[in-house]
Amino acid sequence: MTMRFDILTIFPNFFSGPLDHGVLSRAIATGTVQVATHNLRDFTHDRHRTVDDRPFGGGEGMVLKPQPIFDCVESLGSTGNIGHEENNNNNHNNHIDNKVTDSNRLITSIAPKPTRDLTRQSVILLSAQGKPFTQATAHRLATLDRVVLICGRYEGVDERVSELLADEELSIGDYVLSGGELAAAVVLDATVRLLPGVLGHTDSARYESFGVADVQPGDPEDGKTSDGVPRSTHGAGGILDYPHYTRPADFRGTPIPEVLAAGDHAAIRRWRRQMALAKTLRNRPDLLARAPLTPEDRAFLATLGYSSANCALK
Ligand code: 6GU
Repeated sequence: MTMRFDILTIFPNFFSGPLDHGVLSRAIATGTVQVATHNLRDFTHDRHRTVDDRPFGGGEGMVLKPQPIFDCVESLGSTGNIGHEENNNNNHNNHIDNKVTDSNRLITSIAPKPTRDLTRQSVILLSAQGKPFTQATAHRLATLDRVVLICGRYEGVDERVSELLADEELSIGDYVLSGGELAAAVVLDATVRLLPGVLGHTDSARYESFGVADVQPGDPEDGKTSDGVPRSTHGAGGILDYPHYTRPADFRGTPIPEVLAAGDHAAIRRWRRQMALAKTLRNRPDLLARAPLTPEDRAFLATLGYSSANCALK
């Protein structure tokens, strides 16, 4: 079944880049996902197509008006009428042109907030004031039929959008972007790559070989690979990925670690785990406190000077 994203933005053409490359473009081409962009200016009624206004109470900058955003979300029909309704008088939906297949008809319209089924759809406001978007969020979104991404501007979005229209407000990190567009592209990419079939056989095979015991809570992707090497969870409750090397074995005088060429797979597994732990300690010590660590992990970390309250080998 096709998953559907609708992106509300004042810069619809911004998404040509992200949608036309790599995993995302392939997922669109194969019908795994459908992405429509909507220009908020198309939902204004004045001659100047005004999407923002001055803040009540005074202060810097402009605030996105609620009306174009509400009207746009309320215009989002089921895909049965998308081909006609949304592609007729604007050209910002190139990504759904010719992509309407039988399965798309299963996609439902966006219900009013009080009756919205949050196990199937979510309306998301992207803003620096949102809750953190994590790998666990991406996994949850990947289970939905339909996701609406509202791109805010950094000055602000009328709070009634967050209160009365959106189900959740998400931020992609502790820094300020000038708009939600980059964040929407991040959410889209992180979610779509988790959809069944998008990353191909290697991954699906890997998920199948491991039971729930190997999976981190709230993050079904984080199991172990078929060679027993724990997967990087990149901040989702595990540790960082181990270092990778490819040919040449000697690059400008720097050789690859010997263990990788020696063919002792148990030794490689052990080395990779240790390098991942060392890198996590160096770059993300915050992750170690909540990562599931074995006694061997703790013993290795202790050689690096790491200890924690719940560390058995402290
Ligand atoms: Cl979602 N929007 C903006 N404007 N800034 C951000 C962000 C989102 N996430 C982190 N910084």
